[in-house]
Amino acid sequence: MDFKQDKQTFTFSDQDKQFKLMVITPEIIRVFEDHGETGPSYAIEGDKQIKTEINVTSNEQQVELKTAALNIVVDHDLHLNVYDRHNHALVLDYVGKRIPLDRGINPEQEKLAASEGHEVNEATAGQQIMTIKTLADDEQFYGLGDKTGFLDKRGYEYDNWNTDNPDPQVESFKALYKSIPFLIGVKEGHPYGLFFDNSYRSHVDLGKESSNYYYYSVAAGNLNYYIIGGKTLKEVVTNYTYLTGRVPLPQKWMLGYQQSRWGYSVSQKEVTRIADNLRANDLPCDVLHFDIDYMDGYRVFTWRKDTYADPQKFITELKEKGFRVMPIIDPGVKVDENYWVYQEGVKKGYFVKNPDGSIYVNRVWPGDAVFPDFARKEVRDWWGKNIKYLVDLGTCGVWDDMNEPASFNGPLPQNIVFSDGEKPATHAKMHNVYGHEMAKATYEGLKKNTGKRPYVITRAAYAGTQKYSTVWTGDNQSLWTHLQMMIPQLCDLGLSGFAFAGTDIGGFGADCTPELLTRWIEAAIFSPLLRNHAAVGTRAQEPWVFGEPTLSIYRKYLKLRYHLISYLYDRFYHESKTGLPIMRPLVLNYPDDCKVQKMNDQYMVGREFLVAPVLMAGQTARQVYLPAGEWLDFWTGAEYVGKTTIVVQAPLAKLPLFIKKNTILPWDKSRNHVDVTAHDLMTFRLYGDHGSYVHYQDDGTSFAYEQGQYNLYEVKMSEQQFSIKVSYLGYDKPYKRIRLISDQTEQTYRFDKDSQSYEVEA
Ligand code: GLC
Repeated sequence: MDFKQDKQTFTFSDQDKQFKLMVITPEIIRVFEDHGETGPSYAIEGDKQIKTEINVTSNEQQVELKTAALNIVVDHDLHLNVYDRHNHALVLDYVGKRIPLDRGINPEQEKLAASEGHEVNEATAGQQIMTIKTLADDEQFYGLGDKTGFLDKRGYEYDNWNTDNPDPQVESFKALYKSIPFLIGVKEGHPYGLFFDNSYRSHVDLGKESSNYYYYSVAAGNLNYYIIGGKTLKEVVTNYTYLTGRVPLPQKWMLGYQQSRWGYSVSQKEVTRIADNLRANDLPCDVLHFDIDYMDGYRVFTWRKDTYADPQKFITELKEKGFRVMPIIDPGVKVDENYWVYQEGVKKGYFVKNPDGSIYVNRVWPGDAVFPDFARKEVRDWWGKNIKYLVDLGTCGVWDDMNEPASFNGPLPQNIVFSDGEKPATHAKMHNVYGHEMAKATYEGLKKNTGKRPYVITRAAYAGTQKYSTVWTGDNQSLWTHLQMMIPQLCDLGLSGFAFAGTDIGGFGADCTPELLTRWIEAAIFSPLLRNHAAVGTRAQEPWVFGEPTLSIYRKYLKLRYHLISYLYDRFYHESKTGLPIMRPLVLNYPDDCKVQKMNDQYMVGREFLVAPVLMAGQTARQVYLPAGEWLDFWTGAEYVGKTTIVVQAPLAKLPLFIKKNTILPWDKSRNHVDVTAHDLMTFRLYGDHGSYVHYQDDGTSFAYEQGQYNLYEVKMSEQQFSIKVSYLGYDKPYKRIRLISDQTEQTYRFDKDSQSYEVEA
């Protein structure tokens, strides 16, 4: 069979089609069918290809390429089949024909149904660029970034088109704010990844149309995808994040609690009321979010003067009370001849254009607005410089919103002219990467202006945005179904590289109830981004507004979170090396346990915690499945042997929480905000009889760790003996004292400068 080889690239062709296979690493291959589109990948930066040994054999019927991990077969009809090295099928081309779903409706019925507003036969028309793969009976799907529905995506279809839709987001929603076309499949127990790197609107059907196949189709551009192997689900995630990048180490305080509401920042007085209530009620909190109301007429990079005497002074005062200020920024720049951001952007040609060359105008919060063309470096640099205004006021980061881009005067037409790198491209191509490029501009601007690890939150994203920004899941509502959805949604985001994510606790839209707020803070307490946020005009949902017992319960869980900040920070340290999420579905840790493969109502944190929140109104007990191993009830210490389902009583104040027996954890002292530099005393707790733990410490804010300024500690308990080893010492503030605690014993150690090690304190 004919094919061409150029180093690690193989070209296959017949009369009808041609495609290339590129071996990127032994575990990653790229499939590329050229449809004439050019331009960079927005997800993948830098050259990821590594020199790889490939064993090539061919005969009349097929060509076989073998790497150390994958066995790739192309037959004479140009079907592509990929197996793992033990020849287990992973991704196989479907050889039959696609048969669109028969919805049993005739044109007349369709018209009739439509007159009552029902959408039927929703078109995925015009998406001729497609690949169809064989579906096994037991195949499960995970990932796909930020979608509604359940952990296993099989049986559903989704669109990748960044969408701001304020309706209650339920499992029939096809698209949300982010497009992360990364799918994890598990076929007969063997995992693989598929990453479709094309920013045009795309569609996936995961066995809804047929139980024989699944497919991906895209409106335009090249068929450009990566098949990703790995012996385990974890390895697939690690390989995918090798390609698209990992969440960088955050500043430590970003892991603290954050309070938000659209409306607070209307005045200094209102923000002061919130800050004072948090402290008066002994509620730990690190960040106050400033929504659009702080701006002067919703003009980005301005601060209103009527209700703020001196924003800089105010922000300094808040900082002294332990609060940082996180302002929102939208991409839409107000059309206003007397406003410098607009003036400058117009003068320099920084806004996206109509096909006739005039500046494109739509409507967002400030009224008529224009949209920066973020994919141009010059525009990103300009945005970054504008961010200096906020940095100089003392704010702690930037919350990027409305960057799908959202618009109030109908969607942006497909032919609006954006840039793709330095050359023109259509909105159709750039829509899904607009938020990504804005987040990148924000990250780079913050990094340049502060020298610290940037804190960016974005609503819209594309695959790879995790390198620049944390994300939240947008406008959920105060609904029990949205509390339920939080677990699969954050777990699938985590499997898609977005290890730093959260939902609006208590729900953004609609009115919260005390019970829902209580269960939400319990369920979310390990969510990497921990922020209570609500829409203007909804019932207030700050932790104190419902009185007791809501307040005390809320406080109890925030205090637990603050004991575990260093533990979560350790998880981020490991994540930055492996791409593995902090909050994760049980299936990631126990892939062979069929009880957890579709589990939506429990999650794990690292390998240590198992969280089984109550997610239903009125419920005060629930079943908890404990996978293999020995487990301890976190609250009572009761022991369980896993692979069992137990019933746990869970009155309102109780989050069913379990910890793997024989775990050691860092345990921070109680405080009302994260003190990044505290190094007088660190405590570790042992749960069980023995264990070991690696702890990471650095200055908590800067990039000095990249130059080796960090410490690693190995804490052990074996045969009733504690030990601490400093396995790496690069940061000049090792803990002065370390305390180790178990049920039976307690021991304190003191750092000895001469020996650079810890010695038992007398
Ligand atoms: C969008 C955001 C929301 C924010 C609001 C006002 O709806 O998703 O979080 O509060 O805009 O800025």
